[in-house]
Amino acid sequence: NLTTRIFVTDRTELDKAACVLAGGGLVAFPTETVYGLGVDACNSDAVARLYLAKGRPSFNPLIVHIGSIEAAQQFVDFDDTALALAQAFWPGALTLVLPLRHDSTISPLVTAGLGTLAIRVPDHGVANRLLAAFGGPIAAPSANPSGQVSPTKFAHVRDLMSGRIDGVIDGGDCGVGLESTIIAMKPVPTLLRAGGLPVEAIEAALGYNLALTGETSAPSSPGQLASHYAPKGTVRLNARSVETGETLLGFGPVEAVINLSSSGDLVQAAAGLFDALHQLNAMGAARIAVSPIPDHGLGRAINDRLRRAAAPR
Ligand code: TXA
Ligand code: MG
Repeated sequence: NLTTRIFVTDRTELDKAACVLAGGGLVAFPTETVYGLGVDACNSDAVARLYLAKGRPSFNPLIVHIGSIEAAQQFVDFDDTALALAQAFWPGALTLVLPLRHDSTISPLVTAGLGTLAIRVPDHGVANRLLAAFGGPIAAPSANPSGQVSPTKFAHVRDLMSGRIDGVIDGGDCGVGLESTIIAMKPVPTLLRAGGLPVEAIEAALGYNLALTGETSAPSSPGQLASHYAPKGTVRLNARSVETGETLLGFGPVEAVINLSSSGDLVQAAAGLFDALHQLNAMGAARIAVSPIPDHGLGRAINDRLRRAAAPR
């Protein structure tokens, strides 16, 4: 049971947080998507402690955070398409899965032994200043126990991870509220996870559609959906009416205990989604019904997270 230090966001405090990382510690920090649980990506002992703290299966690889495209080029190879996407969307909510360089110093625990690395430049003042103070790559999954709802507020991290990690930086609320969109480049640009950067924006930059696979391909049976982002209650999607005993998570002009956006704004709904699930947990909601949410733009990522929340466990 660790004492979890709380850091504020001034220069001295971020330098101290960077020192904890350099010493092999685990420090949670805000990004524009969700709070990440950071460790030195080149320190295998630290990465092993991270997997333990999250209770994460060690075959599920991590995303590395880095300060710039130039710094990323020390660890991965960019082809022209990858470079164009990085230039268009970094810093931002886009993770690229790229071939690991043979001379890369990234811990093999980060990539789970794959020949590729998932990497992104975050777009958040605190994350970027922490990366600058640390001066190297920070591996960071979302700062929640594996399988639970991701944190988008300092209080979520404090409540979920206190005693399990060395520190957390209080940087307020995450603006986007959904994890990054993940694209693999080989053999063709492929969507691995819908997320905080709408697929339509990436396809417009590429001039063609992304291939679909893995996490995003239509499951042939509900059992293929890994339960994830799971609130404590059961989840029923596309609810046009509420049954007795259900709590409605609304979207659009409906009467609901919590409404993601009564005006039907997908950006607002994305920003508040995980906090709404944390609130439903705190309320002890046993049966959650969710209004239909349009499946375009950020709605696609919202529906992905809700389908996982609804998957059998
Ligand atoms: O927005 C985000 O992406 C947040 C913040 C903290 O940056 N991070 C995040 O990490 O969501 P995590 O660990 O919850 O999700 C990482 C995802 C997993 O689905 C993992 O399978 C995938 O990235 N991934 C990591 N490395 C990969 C690789 N080499 N090939 C394919 N998928 C990979
Ligand atoms: Mg996660």
